[in-house]
Amino acid sequence: MIGLSVLDEADVAANLHSSMAILCALRAFEAFAFTHEEAEMTDWIEIAALEDIPKLGSRVIRTDTMDVAVFRTRDDQVFALRDACPHKGGPLSQGIVHGTSVTCPLHNWKIDLASGEALGPDEGCANVFATRIENGRVFLALKADEVAA
Ligand code: FES
Repeated sequence: MIGLSVLDEADVAANLHSSMAILCALRAFEAFAFTHEEAEMTDWIEIAALEDIPKLGSRVIRTDTMDVAVFRTRDDQVFALRDACPHKGGPLSQGIVHGTSVTCPLHNWKIDLASGEALGPDEGCANVFATRIENGRVFLALKADEVAA
């Protein structure tokens, strides 16, 4: 016997939201877990002194293919997302940083800085880039085809 169940709208919405969350988590994981081959094709670009990025603000790094918003939290964590909201492409770099999230300036979606995931009830995912801080300098991981010439 085949088990069938009818999903109502809430079930479908819940499934979609959890699927999107898994997709965002996978993308975020990919941004931080390089394979050996990817590591060779990835450049750590020194982009600024930590002090050059305003607390609870951001700085935009322009590449050949996109703008990347690099955010600094109140406690000096640094995160990088593609500077395009998963809703309608709003400039996340101009949003308000709170905790480890940013609120898009256009329609107030809240995006998790670590995963790039839109926080409920919204659904979507912004690209995440790995960052690191060394001796007060901020580095951003970009693949070779994303680096500005
Ligand atoms: S474009 Fe960001 S919330 Fe609409």
